[in-house]
Parts: sequence; structure tokens; C-alpha cells
Amino acid sequence: MRHIVIVGILVIPTTLLTYLGLSASSLMPLEGSAQALIVDQMWNWDMIAIAFLFSVIVVPLAYSLIVFRRRKGDTSDGVHDEGNIKLEVTWTIIPLLLVTFYAYLGAYTLGETRTPDPNAWVVNVTAHQWAWAFQYPEGFSSTELHLPEHKQVLLKMTSLDVIHSFWVPEFRVKQDVLPGRTTELRLTPIALGSFKVRCAELCGLSHAYMEAPVLVTSPADYDAWAQQQATAFNALLAKGGPDAGKAFVAQNGCAGCHSIDGTRMTGPTWRGLFGSEVPLSDGKTVKADDAYLTESIKDPNAKIVAGFPANVMPKFDLTDQQIKSIVSYIETLK
Ligand code: CUA
Repeated sequence: MRHIVIVGILVIPTTLLTYLGLSASSLMPLEGSAQALIVDQMWNWDMIAIAFLFSVIVVPLAYSLIVFRRRKGDTSDGVHDEGNIKLEVTWTIIPLLLVTFYAYLGAYTLGETRTPDPNAWVVNVTAHQWAWAFQYPEGFSSTELHLPEHKQVLLKMTSLDVIHSFWVPEFRVKQDVLPGRTTELRLTPIALGSFKVRCAELCGLSHAYMEAPVLVTSPADYDAWAQQQATAFNALLAKGGPDAGKAFVAQNGCAGCHSIDGTRMTGPTWRGLFGSEVPLSDGKTVKADDAYLTESIKDPNAKIVAGFPANVMPKFDLTDQQIKSIVSYIETLK
């Protein structure tokens, strides 16, 4: 009994020191959203549990190593104990209560992070191998996510191909992005600055590079940026031609799979593509003219280029006008 009391007393300062050490080592990045504050409260409780469990294992272990070590000349066997009902009931009931408490805490925290704000604004997010695109309520799209501070945004997300996952560590919350379904994530940025969306679901070759910039600005700065983007986008649509095509290509992340310098990537290079004879996987060839390129953008699996995989390129949400501009841009890549 004496030993149990001593170990019990030693566990308290060890827990406290471990907890303080963990807290001081700032394991989490900046708290960038209102949701992060909620998640970090739970994380704090988790660290208390971690510190306690660490101590409750390490202190008896260290104590036993010192106090119960074999004395010199002692070759007798150790004491043989045959079970202990009290002990077993205790170490079943206490962890059960703790696990129940933490399960409740997890569910409660998840609920809190999803609290809807009726004034939330909506950004549509499209993920594909291996880029992010953001469609704004003002009608333009961008590969950058700009968010005004202190305003809840509802992200409506979908994938054009495989499962991806939207994750900005500073915002803490994370959500899978699925093909053929829309998933939602609510964020209320509370810190100005630039962050990064990462993909948190292994989604193929360039998964590790599937990032996009996130900029949290003042509402006035956001409005100015959105205005400028919307004006530029509408001007591009009206203008058409190769320059507009180049901009649409950048906005949709086409360069993730198609090079313009002849480098072989996931998809065929665009250099020298226009007007060339393209060998197809079924042995035929096709001339890369307007009709072929338009079809390949609208229905990527209609004709598969020999040596390239099928079912890789997603169908992009582009208007005929945009596709026409993109084709005219490809035409210029000699
Ligand atoms: Cu997309 Cu990993």
C-alpha cells in the first residue's frame, strides 16, 4: 500500500510537468479561425489526458526499476499473484468513464465547429488531381482562396475525380472532398495573413503538391480584390482569343498535367500539338484541329492518346466561349 501511495503522489507532479512541457512546446500552428479556438480547447483536454496516461505508465515503471530491483545475492523467484478483482474493476471503470467523457467532448466540439451563421457567404470549391479551384459569388473563379476576416464562409466542395481533402492547418477543421457529391465546411477566419490549403487525402502522384494559397484580408481589401477579379474575368470572356485562353488555363490548373515546353507529364504536352497527327490508343490517328481539341476538353475520354491513361482528366466546368479561347491558346504553342 505504501508503494501505491508514493507512486500515486509522484504521478501528480509528473503529469503537471508533462502537461506544462507539452503546452509550452506550441505543437499547434496559429489559431486562424473561430473553429480553431473550439478545436484547441478539446486539444487542451487531450493533452491533459496524454500527460496523465504518460505519467501513470512511466512513474510506476521507473519506481519499480529502482525500488524492486534484484538485490545482490538474491536468486529467489518473485512473488506470484493470482488476479485481483478490485484492481481489474477499477481499471475497467475509470478508463470507461474517461473514454465516454472524451467521446462526448469530441462530438460536442464537432457540433460547435459546424454552427451555421445565417449570414454566411458561399464559395464553391472544386478539387481535381492536383489542384484547387474556387468559384466566387461574384461569378469569377480563381486558384487562390481569398477570405474576408470575421465573416463565416460556407465552402461547398466537390471533386472532379478521386477523393481529396480540404485542410488548412491554421483553421484546424478538415473535410473530405468527394466526386459526385457536395460536402460542406464552415470557416470564420480570425487572423489576417496568408496560409495554404493542402490536400489531406492521398490522391495520386502529385498529392503532396496539391496546395493553393489562402489569403485572409480585411473585408474592404476582399471587396477590392473581388471587384478587380470580376472585372478582369468579364473582360477576358468578352475578349476571347489566346490571351484569354491562357488566363482560363491558369485559373483551372491545367498546367498540373499539360506542359507547354514538350515535357511529358500526366497528360500530353501542348507544345506543337495543334495541327499534329496524334496517335490514339486504338491504333488510329487523329489530326489535332479545333474539333478534336474541343472534344478532348469537353469529353476527355472520347479519344485517348496512345501511351496515356484513360479516365484521368476530369470534365471541367467551362463555357463554350472559354473552351474556344483555350483552343486558340493551344494553337499558338508551336
Ligand atoms: Cu488531392 Cu491529395
